[in-house]
Amino acid sequence: MPALASSTIVILDFGSQYTQLIARRIREFNVFSVVLPCTVPLERVLALQPAGIVLSGGPSSVYDDAAPKADPKLLELGLPMLGICYGLQFMTHHLGGKVVSANAREYGHAEVHVEETTKLFHGLPQTLEVWMSHGDHAEKLAPGFKVTARTANAIAAIADESRKMWAVQFHPEVAHTKQGMEMLRNFAVDICGAKQDWTPEHFIATTVAKIREQVGPTGHAICGLSGGVDSSVAAVLVAKAIGDRLTCIFVNNGVLRKDEFAKVQQTMRDELHLNVVAVDASERFLSKLAGVTDPEKKRKVIGNEFIAVFDDEAAKLLAAEAAGESVAWLVQGTLYPDVIESSSVHGPSHVIKSHHNVGGLPEDMKLKLIEPLRDLFKDEVRRIGRDLEMPEEILERQPFPGPGLAVRILGEVTPERVAILQEADAICTAEIKRAGLYRKVWQSFAVLLPVKSVGVMGDQRTYAYTCAIRAVESEDGMTADWAALPYEVLRAISSRIVSEVRGINRVVYDITSKPPGTIEWE
Ligand code: XMP
Repeated sequence: MPALASSTIVILDFGSQYTQLIARRIREFNVFSVVLPCTVPLERVLALQPAGIVLSGGPSSVYDDAAPKADPKLLELGLPMLGICYGLQFMTHHLGGKVVSANAREYGHAEVHVEETTKLFHGLPQTLEVWMSHGDHAEKLAPGFKVTARTANAIAAIADESRKMWAVQFHPEVAHTKQGMEMLRNFAVDICGAKQDWTPEHFIATTVAKIREQVGPTGHAICGLSGGVDSSVAAVLVAKAIGDRLTCIFVNNGVLRKDEFAKVQQTMRDELHLNVVAVDASERFLSKLAGVTDPEKKRKVIGNEFIAVFDDEAAKLLAAEAAGESVAWLVQGTLYPDVIESSSVHGPSHVIKSHHNVGGLPEDMKLKLIEPLRDLFKDEVRRIGRDLEMPEEILERQPFPGPGLAVRILGEVTPERVAILQEADAICTAEIKRAGLYRKVWQSFAVLLPVKSVGVMGDQRTYAYTCAIRAVESEDGMTADWAALPYEVLRAISSRIVSEVRGINRVVYDITSKPPGTIEWE
């Protein structure tokens, strides 16, 4: 984003689990920051015209063969630089100091005494509470550096202000470091001079202008809508730029939640004023799913069928090209974590499930991509959505997998089972919302188990399916804890499902965390 380039802080990722957090913290005070793998060529870093560079932490020792290979020339760029943990050792090692390996790494709270109030510590007390990552340490500092803070038994911070280099052994980005935000602000704003103009209004204005320029005055775009936050916000931004020249395609794949096909259409058309083509392809999907029991196969069937339906609809629009229109663009709601993940220093993370996202690009369509949310985290997307005055109901929607209820019906997906699960799921959601818990949990839903057990209702014996309730708390879906839902809520969900949903006579609660479980059951 050239308009913002001079205010960008580039974070070079040496593999720490906290790297993304550095970017988030800096963005919280409205300075734009991006994470790049530490191995990127320096030209790519310079192309962003960064105001400053942060070297992240990382699990390696500078002496490990597997230590990430960053170009030490980055230390000669003359840009203000903040090294965090491994970043401190990287600076020391490559600038002529000596790092010694420690046998054990220590993590945890520590008290740091500031010996010299450098610009990094400006305005902070002499004693800081920090989250320490204490592994290798600098035995001899690089020439020009001095110790600026210590814990009882280790160096906590160093600096060479004449070379605009600061480094800390602890993690300012984690919440346990009480004054961490101030340090990052001191670095980004006071030292680097980055402007604090990364606001939703600014983002919306620059993004809309950029899309307008990309697509041109007559170009057309299409977007696959799922009804979720990302694709909806992406569509609204693009519509703001090109109006009716954006066509959104919303497909009923037969495994949506109860009434979702109608509700999403209504919201998208009436409240968001989007140009929506709604395609009810449920029969097409369900007939392809008949007899399929393998979870991965279900995903593939749905993924392929989605592309086929999307392709058909796009072809109709492309056929209109003869009439002077040209659809050359495909809008996708890709988020920043997806981008970082796929370019991380470790390489793309291990694929455990073949996740496919709604709007996957049919390869032979040769459409160019518009990904307006590529630079954003989920909560930032919500902030943008709020600024665009989109309904909370969309912005706060819990994540819902592309293959929908198909991966929540164990075994074969049949129309009868979909109908049963839709009812049970609607009750589960309603009760969670009624208890005010919908936004507190990451996901909460019902799963249909195709095993029958015996029950009794009135004077009658029943023999019906079991429904499992799943509710988890999570930051990002990568790990999750099962949520300790209040007994009254579980009681309400269970008794309503058993009495209101024909076909279910037993409800159980899933108390498995991730890992070792996954959030979805398939
Ligand atoms: P798991 O089950 O892997 O889920 O712990 C992690 C998160 O990903 C969602 N999920 C999917 N999303 N297509 C998607 O678009 C998929 O195939 C898929 N499988 C799981 C899941 O809902 C959770 O938020």
